Amino acid sequence: MSISNESELKGMKKVSEVVGTTLKLMREYAKVGMSTKELDEYGGEILKHYEAKSAPYETYGFPGYSCISVNKEIAHGIPSAKKILREGDLINIDVSAELDGFWSDNGCSFVLGNDIHHHQPLVDASKQILFKAIQNIKGGVKISDIGHLIETEAKKRGFKVIKNLAGHGVGRSLHEKPEDILNYRVKTNQERFRKNTTVAIETFISTDSTIAMELNDGWTLVGNKGGYVTQHEQTILVTDSTPIILTESNDLWNV
Ligand code: CO
Ligand code: CO
Repeated sequence: MSISNESELKGMKKVSEVVGTTLKLMREYAKVGMSTKELDEYGGEILKHYEAKSAPYETYGFPGYSCISVNKEIAHGIPSAKKILREGDLINIDVSAELDGFWSDNGCSFVLGNDIHHHQPLVDASKQILFKAIQNIKGGVKISDIGHLIETEAKKRGFKVIKNLAGHGVGRSLHEKPEDILNYRVKTNQERFRKNTTVAIETFISTDSTIAMELNDGWTLVGNKGGYVTQHEQTILVTDSTPIILTESNDLWNV
């Protein structure tokens, strides 16, 4: 959305702080032996405490308050009592919600406990690339140039990007224009970031796959060539210099 007054900015800051805090607390709560449903219900309680509504649950009819994707799941993983977290699991939590008519979105991947499966380089790549991408965004920058930066940085580290998942505008709903802030360059896309707009920037860094495919449950996404994928996401306010990271309460850079 385009922020045109103080109260809109306040509304976006408030909901962003809530989803950021929820993501941080969920990440800290995750333990070996816990089910993803237990973790999701904990997050759901936090959102309720702040009187925020889970975006996937309320708007999309998703069977959970947050998306929790484990190991081979790329995104939109359904919280389940049968899915028990284990040492070294690659976990992604994505929290998005609405509060007072404003929406915000954030997510992160992390390794649970000891990194016995050596996922950390993939996690670090995603986090560092998101940071670099955000540092390079300001009003007037082409969306496709940020896509190019993300893919170039992924390749430099020996990784790929998922081509059919993207960041997006956010604010008065979860997904707004610009709809496709992709992780690679589409030369025909001449669209630019605009000052005073709020957007969710997200990475999808991959070891093998380049396309996300939906499983028969109608939600869970997995890679077309297997392997692992990491995602980090922040909702930001575009300015004429470095963006303001509205979801910074998630403490993402320090994990
Ligand atoms: Co998200
Ligand atoms: Co998003």
